[in-house]
Amino acid sequence: MDDRPIGVFDSGFGGLTVVRALIDLLPDEQLVYIGDTARYPYGPRPPAEVRLFSEQITEILVEQHDVKMVVVACNTAAAAALDDLRARFRVPILGVIEPGLRAAAKASRNGRVGVIGTVGTISSGAYQRAAGALRMSAELQCAACPGFVEFVERGEVDSDQVYVLAERLLSPLRGGEVDTLLLGCTHYPYLARTIGDVMGREVVLVSSAEETAFDVRSVLQATGLHRSPGQPAHHRFFSSGDVGLFAEMGRRLLGAELSVAEPIDFCRRASA
Ligand code: DGL
Repeated sequence: MDDRPIGVFDSGFGGLTVVRALIDLLPDEQLVYIGDTARYPYGPRPPAEVRLFSEQITEILVEQHDVKMVVVACNTAAAAALDDLRARFRVPILGVIEPGLRAAAKASRNGRVGVIGTVGTISSGAYQRAAGALRMSAELQCAACPGFVEFVERGEVDSDQVYVLAERLLSPLRGGEVDTLLLGCTHYPYLARTIGDVMGREVVLVSSAEETAFDVRSVLQATGLHRSPGQPAHHRFFSSGDVGLFAEMGRRLLGAELSVAEPIDFCRRASA
């Protein structure tokens, strides 16, 4: 047994999709979530910068919050930094790319899987590398969707504008070849209605959240790190941006577990 919390981070609200799955699957575990809303979006940033941010956040989770494990609940950060984080920190570090791919491969019947993500994730080739490592036979068709994350961060998940953008960005993936679409950005499940509508009802949408939660449970079971059962779980949420807005929007997206957001200031930390 290990009663320390699990650390989870993302550039903003997207990682809350993974938090939802973790709370539902592992209700005894306590989470510390960091949403780097002051520096989102990560997608257009150079990989070296995303790596630096990811290391900074992981260091805070490990050193200040004494987490027993870190879930990189952001595809862009996982694509840029997962290997470095695993080399540098001693706690288990889990990403969202492999779990998402496994879930998509299971869902596809014709072996043609579309993957959508940020420019950083798609241009990194991380999905193709992970598919190779998993010896997946599915054929991947990848497309970047710049702008989706910004809509979610503004709380605009089903406006006409997001629909028009989705029609444009998803057009290379439409036309019947792809029977499964992997939402390779943790923000995208909040746009699932729009994306599903544009892709057509015969295309199955897959998010990495549930499969990632199963991976976390497997690691907890394999290492004996799970929390003693029966005590109430208290989660903490930090935002580098406007904490009032984070709490309000976050509660709408995640649910009642997010009632308070606490501030975290990377600029002040960097210069302190
Ligand atoms: N949720 C992040 C991801 O999965 C969004 C990255 C961004 O801030 O652009 O990639």
